[in-house]
Amino acid sequence: MYAFSRAVNSMHSEDVKKLMKQASGKNLISFAGGMPNNDLFPVNQIDEIYNSLPDDIKKLCFQYGPTSGYPPLVNSLRSLLEQKGLTVGNNKILITTGSLQAISIITQEFVNEGDIILTENPCFVGALSVFETFGAEIHSIPIDKDGIDIQALKRKIDSLDRTPKFLYVTPNYHNPAGIIYSPERKKELLEVLSGTGIILLEDDAYSDLYFSEEEKYLTKAMKSYGVEDVEIIYTGSFSKILGPGFRLGYMLSSEEIFEKAESVKQALDACTSSFMQILANEFLVQNKLEPYLTFLRSEYQERRDLLQKYLNTYMPKEITWNEPKGGFYIWLKLPPHIKSTDIFNKSVTKGVVFVTGRTFDPAGKKDDRLRLSYSNMPKAQIEKGVMILSEAIKKVLQDSEMLLSEKG
Ligand SMILES: Cc1ncc(COP(=O)(O)O)c(C=O)c1O
Repeated sequence: MYAFSRAVNSMHSEDVKKLMKQASGKNLISFAGGMPNNDLFPVNQIDEIYNSLPDDIKKLCFQYGPTSGYPPLVNSLRSLLEQKGLTVGNNKILITTGSLQAISIITQEFVNEGDIILTENPCFVGALSVFETFGAEIHSIPIDKDGIDIQALKRKIDSLDRTPKFLYVTPNYHNPAGIIYSPERKKELLEVLSGTGIILLEDDAYSDLYFSEEEKYLTKAMKSYGVEDVEIIYTGSFSKILGPGFRLGYMLSSEEIFEKAESVKQALDACTSSFMQILANEFLVQNKLEPYLTFLRSEYQERRDLLQKYLNTYMPKEITWNEPKGGFYIWLKLPPHIKSTDIFNKSVTKGVVFVTGRTFDPAGKKDDRLRLSYSNMPKAQIEKGVMILSEAIKKVLQDSEMLLSEKG
């Protein structure tokens, strides 16, 4: 027996490890992975970029860089965010090794063991594992199709004897719920937080992946809503728009929060890979991002359409789901008497995996949903995957009805 620290006991970290294995499992039809399919990556563009770099910049790729990030990338990002309507102003950008690192840095910056963090329910499991690792007391608030439940949030804040350190939300194309907050809900949320001293951690990994230009305005960051007296830390990522292998993310915050975050990052990994920062910067500077995003948006929309079509064709009538307007996820709702873990145990033996609902519940219990991701699998497998999944669901439904009638 080793004397492990408390930090290694995060229940959700175990879930994430399992998830990463399943997402890349051979011979499985996987609705599990919240990542792009390998065939979608901009391999040729990156080849071109690297080959066209002057020698002195190529050499920089191999070198350490400033902890805050490669300055030209920081500048390019500043312009990109401003173009998206996010006024950077006096805020500072810290480049991080994926936006999960930004979440981890912010947690280390603010949270002592036992401090309270508010989250949505369901919640991105990667963030949950970070919060647990640092010993936070997590309180979750339900969401509906328009965002966080405002009344439940108010009740929660009123009921607590301590001020939560922050509220963590993913308002645009939520992981796992697939929803986007309505502008009204974003505003109400800011109004509730205003003056409470609770920081808002706005995780925006998916906002570039909207399916319709007309709905782009919905993705507007809360950091640019201009509501007074709310501290907002905004995080973004290159993982869903360039590739998770870049491990490139960033956080935008006030200078004071930035300074401390930079110190935390220094102790973590000194700096994010110069190689990846230089390649990503050239991708932006050479105007390769927008055409690539246009391609990705239509690809994901096509995948969403296929998945919806086959769900409509094969799913039993008891099952319902959201229609995502962007991002990667469909969040299936099951009748209350069946569990997504039971469905998983059946479907995995037939070669289909997804992520169970309880994975995204901070308490690890609520299991009446399941997450399907359409971003990762080959399109040709979607129909077969849905057929197998719906058979597994029908079997679990039948078993539970038999059990109920035996009891009755
Ligand atoms: C909501 C959300 N935030 C953050 C991340 C982490 O992304 P990164 O690869 O930038 O660490 C993910 C990845 O799945 C995500 O879904």
